[in-house]
Amino acid sequence: MKPRARIVLSRRWPKRIEAILEQDYEVWPNTGDHPMSAAAIRQALRRADGFCPTVTDQLDSNVLRVPSPRTRILANFGVGFEHIDLDAARRSGIVVTNTPDVLTDCTADLAMALILATARGVVGGDRMLRAGDWSGWRPTHIPGVRVSGKSLGLVGFGRIGRALAKRAGAGFGMRVRVFDPQPPADEVARELGVEVCAGLDDLLETSDFVSLHCPVTPKTEGMIGEPQFKRMRPGAILINTARGALVDEHALAGALRSGRLAAAGLDVYAREPEVPSELTEIGRVVLLPHLGSATRETREAMGMRVKENLDRFFAGEEPPDRVA
Ligand code: DGY
Repeated sequence: MKPRARIVLSRRWPKRIEAILEQDYEVWPNTGDHPMSAAAIRQALRRADGFCPTVTDQLDSNVLRVPSPRTRILANFGVGFEHIDLDAARRSGIVVTNTPDVLTDCTADLAMALILATARGVVGGDRMLRAGDWSGWRPTHIPGVRVSGKSLGLVGFGRIGRALAKRAGAGFGMRVRVFDPQPPADEVARELGVEVCAGLDDLLETSDFVSLHCPVTPKTEGMIGEPQFKRMRPGAILINTARGALVDEHALAGALRSGRLAAAGLDVYAREPEVPSELTEIGRVVLLPHLGSATRETREAMGMRVKENLDRFFAGEEPPDRVA
């Protein structure tokens, strides 16, 4: 019988999916479930046929420069892959895959949750009540802003941006405006009921809520900074469920302190798990610990999507979600 391929999982996965994986592979899980050190990753690359990283693993050119790695595939548990140096992987002859599609709905749901939470004092109200500071109903208590009918600007209009457009447009009657360097075809924009902006500035100037849905690349890193906050409508709200490095966090804190922005809803940070204290100090920011895909259903689907990529690869076929 052919020996089973040896797979390292860089973090614990949902139990049910680890058990399914164990039926076909020799699985080496990271039992401590802490982020792996560069040395531990390099050792895994030397000893395992496949390595399954997550966003918490840095697979840069230095880590990937392992002499004659045994690993032939990096099957990422996640859709974003900016933590993997694709060129370095190619140079080492290692295939890279990700998990698109399966987390689209849950991430869009969380972006909608942040829109509602920031606009309606959901978190501040809960905190106040638990602290025993609620003296009863009154007309002036925690005045939020209405979400229905407001304009929502989507920066990036891929799968998750489109899923949010559907929710915000059909569910909340929001006017959805989008900016993407690769704009949607007219019929797609019409079908989803969105207006395509001429540029980022146009979107920032016309949106009550701005939500980010693009990957981090050298071009997009820090794309929302002080000049962009100055262009946003006074009292606008920023939502980020994409990647923290898209935003200059110091400039964001300044825009919130000055009152230029009414609030922000963040699920991602530039240097996770660090969250700048200048953001935690501001009550009008809703801060979540990178929960976009964190539902039981989606995390299991992500694991199964990784397995599909591994199965196809080790069967000598092209894995469906190959990115390098
Ligand atoms: C993703 O899939 O990219 C999520 O952000 C978790 O890594």
